[in-house]
Amino acid sequence: MTAKSTQVQVSLGDRSYPISIGSDEIFNADIGRYISGKKVLIVTNETIAPLYLERLEQQLTDKQVSRVILADGEQYKNLDTLNLIFDQLIGDHHDRKTTLIALGGGVVGDMTGFAAASYQRGVAFIQIPTTLLAQVDSSVGGKTAVNHPMGKNMIGAFYQPQAVIIDTDTLSTLPDREFYAGLAEVIKYGLIVDADFFQWLENNVDLLLQRDKRALAYAIELSCVSKARIVAEDETEQGIRAILNLGHTFGHAIETFQQYKQWIHGEAVAAGMVMAAELSVISGDLSEADLHRIKDLLARCSLPITPPADMQPDDFTGLMIRDKKVLDGQLRLVLLKRLGEATVTGQFSIDHLNQVLIKACISK
Ligand code: NAD
Ligand code: GLY
Repeated sequence: MTAKSTQVQVSLGDRSYPISIGSDEIFNADIGRYISGKKVLIVTNETIAPLYLERLEQQLTDKQVSRVILADGEQYKNLDTLNLIFDQLIGDHHDRKTTLIALGGGVVGDMTGFAAASYQRGVAFIQIPTTLLAQVDSSVGGKTAVNHPMGKNMIGAFYQPQAVIIDTDTLSTLPDREFYAGLAEVIKYGLIVDADFFQWLENNVDLLLQRDKRALAYAIELSCVSKARIVAEDETEQGIRAILNLGHTFGHAIETFQQYKQWIHGEAVAAGMVMAAELSVISGDLSEADLHRIKDLLARCSLPITPPADMQPDDFTGLMIRDKKVLDGQLRLVLLKRLGEATVTGQFSIDHLNQVLIKACISK
């Protein structure tokens, strides 16, 4: 672990790009080198603008910079808000050489990426993620989207940024609840591809919870290394990339059940990862001892390990069948072969799934 900046490469041929991770990286990354034209549009929101917009603009004094400051919240991740970005781009005469910069969490990043993918059929964009979740997951890999009233992330594109600049200092202002939710996604990488990292997380969770900068930079780097490797192998999710959705089928059922109004994404994913792990145990793969380690680590991060009290097994089954991984009517889930190895499979017993749902719903 070092305090200086670290680079991770996302290798996608002529769409490859660096992820630059470090303290005060907004200043240190020399962002201008990723911008080929004169014009820049910074997209951020009303919470993040007062915290970090000025710092970013100070790095772009040789560019013509416009900004659009969006309302804060998942409920604004829609076509109406996207149109505000296009209004600004067209109103300020941005052309095909322009670069968009997303300064914010996953909501700002997903919308800015989709705006960049579609404005004049595609312009450059840079991700500057400011939540832990966005730093370890949403800013990397090129999934961009807005929501539709009938479904989350229904309208979007795979579109890769020029660079991802991760300034770990921005995490100092992140509310605890958002920070813990990001840790769920960090733990996910240990579970799906890196058992050593899981063990490192067990040993260093107290440092992470104190937001120790070196520990955080290391956890973010290892998470990005795993994500970059999976994305390089399967950019458009034809197969292996789906393992990044461990716990998400259960988690999305929770979020949908609550109409996105109670638990935040990482919390729902945490409870969902435990349910996926329970099914992995009952299917004869994961050991009971490892299941306990998973629950223990998530609980130490103040994350839920059982579903919401008012959810019943039928609520899950009714909602899980709408998952994007359902193919030809068959539910597929991400399960653990062991700690550090995941698989996407439709080969599990429905009886076992029902047992897991019943156990989870009565153990709350
Ligand atoms: P978010 O963008 O809503 O940010 C959470 C909250 O933290 C917001 O209120 C935000 O304004 C605030 N915030 C952000 N940075 C801050 C900072 N440094 N200090 C203080 N407050 C700060 O939520 P998120 O968890 O970052 O992202 C969730 C979104 O990401 C969802 O829309 C989800 O669909 C998407 N997502 C996308 C991918 C992908 O691969 N593209 C992956 C996972 C999630
Ligand atoms: N967050 C899941 C993915 O990027 O594929």
